Amino acid sequence: DDTKAGVKGLVDAGILNIPKIFVRPAEDLATEELNSGHKKVEVPIIDVSNIGDSIRRQEIVNEVKIASGEWGFFQVINHGIPLSVLDEMIEGIRLFNEQDLELKKELYSRDSAKKVKFHSNFDLYTSKTADWRDTLQLTFLDSDPDTSQMPSVCRKSTMEYFKHMKKLGETLFELLSEALGLQADHLNSMGYSKGCSIVTHYYPPCPQPELTLGVRKHADAGILTMLLQNHIGGLQVLHNGQWFDIHPTLGGLVLSNDKFKSVKHRAISNHVGPRISVACFFSGHASLLDKPFGPIKKLISEANPPQYEEFLLKEYFAKFFSSSLDTKPPIDYYK
Ligand code: SIN
Ligand code: FE2
Repeated sequence: DDTKAGVKGLVDAGILNIPKIFVRPAEDLATEELNSGHKKVEVPIIDVSNIGDSIRRQEIVNEVKIASGEWGFFQVINHGIPLSVLDEMIEGIRLFNEQDLELKKELYSRDSAKKVKFHSNFDLYTSKTADWRDTLQLTFLDSDPDTSQMPSVCRKSTMEYFKHMKKLGETLFELLSEALGLQADHLNSMGYSKGCSIVTHYYPPCPQPELTLGVRKHADAGILTMLLQNHIGGLQVLHNGQWFDIHPTLGGLVLSNDKFKSVKHRAISNHVGPRISVACFFSGHASLLDKPFGPIKKLISEANPPQYEEFLLKEYFAKFFSSSLDTKPPIDYYK
């Protein structure tokens, strides 16, 4: 029953030393990995205002191409989503996590079939250590989700946020299609902007942030991730072997036949908090789950042979979610 109180439950109980399960393995702590962030180097930021202007659009497409190829990640600014929508999304998640424990416990589950669930560390039973966070997961399988199961404290803000994410997601898929040299509607017409899940993390303040992480190093499983984080910060992306601190929105793409990378990233834990983040994963429409999935056909030629075998998305996701988060690579279909 203690597990159902989450990591926040530990902090509320007033612990001063984190339980052993959260402590990173000694070999990890010994490497500079854990402490090598805080670099002040510019990370890609893309201003998407004036996207309707054809000359500016071409420049944006080019920036997307460079950022996706070299980093597998970029920050989007001037996206037109009102700040209030972002703030209210974060606030709804704070209220959910800080409400009466009994209400949270009702949603506690590790069942992959559940569309709405609360837990800490989906990989708790398959990984050696645990991370310092609690998670509320909201899965939408199409554009018209059934919201009845969604917690009332964050239902309205999440639906509003979701509406904007879908729209921005479609725009990003257009830019990514063009950046790959495809027709603008290519990725959208494949159904990639249809299936979406929103995974929200609540990182309570940690008494020993140097010993644990908020989220261990991993690459996301989906096709595109858009990430929102509150003012605490803590997201880091790995680029040329070094960790870079990142402030707001994230995109990463897989299976462009290796043209665009899926960035490895993590979140550090912090003395102050809560840190809150909201990830919107586009993983394709549910109807794609049973179909063979592989490198985009139009990107394959004799000079650019497929870098991945085809596989079923269903099996790939099942594998990802039944293994430890830092098991790598998430796909073993490399040729
Ligand atoms: C994640 O990668 O799932 C979350 C990252 C973050 O909280 O910044
Ligand atoms: Fe992630």
